[in-house]
Amino acid sequence: MNPQTLSLRALLILGLWHSGRRSLASAPELKEQPKKIAVVGAGIGGTAAAFYLRQEFGAAVKIDVFEPGNVGGRLATVKIGDYEYETGGAVIHPLNLHMKEFIEKLGIPPRKDVPSKMAIFDGKDLTFEESDWFIVNFLRILWRYGFNFLRMHMWVEGILDKFMRIYQYQQYGYSFSSVDRLLHAMGGDSFLTLVNQTLEETMIDEGFSQIFLNDIVAPVMRVNYGQSVRINGFVGAVSLAGADSGLWAVDEGNKRVCSGLLYHSKSDLIPARVTSISVKVRPSKTGTTTSFYEVNYVGESGSAHSLYDIVIIATPLHQGKSDITFSGFSPPIPSHYPGLYHQTVSTLVHGMLNVSYLGTTEPASKFTVSDILTTDSKGSIINSLSSLDPVHIPKGYKRPPASQTKVWKIFSPKPLTEEQLQDMFLSWDSVSETRWLAYPSYRPPHRKTPPFILHNRLYYINAIEWAASAMEMSAISARNVALLAHHRWHQQASKIDQEDLHTRLRGEL
Ligand SMILES: Cc1cc2nc3c(=O)[nH]c(=O)nc-3n(C[C@H](O)[C@H](O)[C@H](O)COP(=O)(O)OP(=O)(O)OC[C@H]3O[C@@H](n4cnc5c(N)ncnc54)[C@H](O)[C@@H]3O)c2cc1C
Ligand SMILES: *[C@@H]1O[C@H](CO)[C@@H](O)[C@H](O)[C@H]1NC(C)=O
Ligand SMILES: *[C@@H]1O[C@H](CO)[C@@H](O)[C@H](O)[C@H]1NC(C)=O
Repeated sequence: MNPQTLSLRALLILGLWHSGRRSLASAPELKEQPKKIAVVGAGIGGTAAAFYLRQEFGAAVKIDVFEPGNVGGRLATVKIGDYEYETGGAVIHPLNLHMKEFIEKLGIPPRKDVPSKMAIFDGKDLTFEESDWFIVNFLRILWRYGFNFLRMHMWVEGILDKFMRIYQYQQYGYSFSSVDRLLHAMGGDSFLTLVNQTLEETMIDEGFSQIFLNDIVAPVMRVNYGQSVRINGFVGAVSLAGADSGLWAVDEGNKRVCSGLLYHSKSDLIPARVTSISVKVRPSKTGTTTSFYEVNYVGESGSAHSLYDIVIIATPLHQGKSDITFSGFSPPIPSHYPGLYHQTVSTLVHGMLNVSYLGTTEPASKFTVSDILTTDSKGSIINSLSSLDPVHIPKGYKRPPASQTKVWKIFSPKPLTEEQLQDMFLSWDSVSETRWLAYPSYRPPHRKTPPFILHNRLYYINAIEWAASAMEMSAISARNVALLAHHRWHQQASKIDQEDLHTRLRGEL
């Protein structure tokens, strides 16, 4: 990606960001504000929702965030020796503006950058190894793949350009009632088609070669989503953007953003699991009826329930992810939507790699590759292998070469056996395994995405994951749902599902 255009665009958008003209204080208040809002789940989606709900509904509303596990959800760290390491969501794109805004608001610095080097492993040998020299890489790639690489950057860039429109819409307070409408507002029919087709179909149509897809694109899908080029074209493009330069992470761990957002939003964390939600109708002062949501939950001190005006679900409603019963709703709301989450096992090994496993004859002391991607070959047991830096980079830190005992992270579809570890490592002194139901299983791509609106004032953030799953996607969805909840509460239909926003707002720049 051309850094010049990138920074220009980023500046433009950031400029807009800070000069957003929307004033909430002057919004017509047709109805009194809600008194209590529940958010179910304290991952990045739930905590970002708390943050945006506070922004939309003001200081008086009580916001309760339910979380039985650790704040952060799929953003998590483990301790090995004296240091913490990321096991879940790891890297953030430079144009993920919500994540960027969060750390700025919270006063958290980005993690110090450690230069990285990539290689591709086909199960036997390293088929590609990045050199320290840009020109060498450039020529090697040109030799093998012609202009596929350059064209890919331009293709992803074109999608990213449209993607960025969402920030302007949200800045002006616009929201969307479904994932399809949100995608359509960003990229028109072309985005809906992307979600509808496989990445492979899309890229072949665009003129990319099958060899390029197998050698370069497939490894990127494997490291980011543990899946093949048969995932949908939209998440595929998001994943390819994740191979851009300038990726960053949060100092002391990405999950810090979640606890920061909770604190900043002055929400109350309730350490409990929500078991069921039912709708209750009560007569109101004005003679009509009002409905409330009864949230039932189980915590350490047993089970309890509370009534809320608005409820936001910020955890996937899928098998193995959560188990919430919805009762009294018509039409009924399922506990689980169709579709499964894909397992990615994240194994952190503190040990010494057997570099011969990678088929390289380089001495381990010279082997400084940090990220080893893998091709989609038969019998491959790992999706990726990376040298992992701690979440806080100590002063003077240099990534050790492979000849030293250090932390490696392996992504694989199945847990690794002792024998498999013995093939890869000469020795190790600790292994830490996390089995994630990490992201949707994107095959087949033609799946109807679940709704954002489950009921009048009951919303669902993780519906967006069926377009693409990433921290920023959850944050975008959280803001959309907070805006939607606000506009629907105050009956501001003009801020929901507006067509042609891109053309209409162009003059506003
Ligand atoms: C191994 C791995 C690598 C990844 N790499 C990246 C990456 O590099 N970059 C990137 O952007 N994204 C990455 N992702 C994806 C990213 O982590 C997720 O998209 C994002 O963290 C999802 O956040 P969320 O808040 O929507 O969901 P979650 O983080 O899953 O949060 C949901 C929360 O709800 C809680 N919950 C569940 N049931 C209940 C209940 N009944 N009551 C109350 N609470 C409940 C859960 O305990 C959980 O904490 C990765 C994910 C994994 C697993
Ligand atoms: C997406 O696919 C479905 C089912 O194959 C089809 O009905 C729909 O028209 C497609 N939409 C777009 C925008 O391509
Ligand atoms: C290292 O890996 C190579 C190739 O897989 C293997 O032949 C060799 O025995 C391994 N070395 C050790 C000490 O396990």
